[in-house]
Amino acid sequence: MRETIVNPEDLIYPLFVVPDNRARVEIRSMPGVWQNRVREAVDETRRAYDAGIRAVLLFGLPEFKDAIGSASWDPAGPVQAAIEAIKRAVPQMSVIADVCLCEYTDHGHCGVIADQDVDNDATLPLLAKQALSFANAGADFVAPSDMMDGRVAAIRSALDDAQMSEVGIMAYSAKFASGFYGPFREAAESAPQFGDRRTYQMDPANIREALREIELDVEEGADIIMVKPALSYLDVIRAARERFDLPLAAYNVSGEYAMVKAAAERGWIDGTRVMNEILTSIKRAGADLIITYFAVDFASAIR
Ligand code: PBG
Repeated sequence: MRETIVNPEDLIYPLFVVPDNRARVEIRSMPGVWQNRVREAVDETRRAYDAGIRAVLLFGLPEFKDAIGSASWDPAGPVQAAIEAIKRAVPQMSVIADVCLCEYTDHGHCGVIADQDVDNDATLPLLAKQALSFANAGADFVAPSDMMDGRVAAIRSALDDAQMSEVGIMAYSAKFASGFYGPFREAAESAPQFGDRRTYQMDPANIREALREIELDVEEGADIIMVKPALSYLDVIRAARERFDLPLAAYNVSGEYAMVKAAAERGWIDGTRVMNEILTSIKRAGADLIITYFAVDFASAIR
């Protein structure tokens, strides 16, 4: 009689990759999530594959940061190296690379800065360059999370011009300016050094605007659309499911994970039970794919 069943292959497992000269470190606010060197990212990918997970999403921490995030298109960067190593070791795993400047810029914003503000259009060619670099390394999908207007079209045409039309785009289409990203910014060392992301991420109060943002990404050539965060936005997921035919992803973000872990650690909730309930609710709302730090725990538990 059960109407909604979450399968391991619905889940996408995010991994943080650091340069090989750094230590493997667990994120304080995200127990069980680590900053991995390339070899550990490969090990984690293999563990995920054995548990039934079929896609990983890679975030990179560069050797150095600058104003334009130039380390992000270094062909020897941690994400590029991890893509190559994972594709060699676990070729059946789909590899998705996050595209954004915030992990790579010294100011921590998702685009380049002009006059104390993010310059949308000047950012587009840089995002395209980064996406191309990940595609060249062997990524199956690139996933722009920057929320600049027009980036899906810019990345699509850059990929097509480089004869890489088979590389897909998973677009963070409706990404809200959220307090739930806090732990991620510790993991990715990407907190903005001034101001906030409200000039490019969305007002949590707006669902009609969210649908408009998704529509633009569809027109620009997105292959997968996304709503992020997931839990406070289940109504947005449902509305997107009803309006659009493309595969729909939802991001069960770092703060949502951290709350469950923290409360379970104190014995205030049953962590496994709440994890199951959360993932089921996101799928019930209409998501085809769920990006979640719980991916391997969930998949291992149901095996
Ligand atoms: C980068 C990015 C963020 C997340 C994914 N990509 C953080 C942000 O926008 O500040 C958040 C993911 C999470 O919280 O788990 N722009």
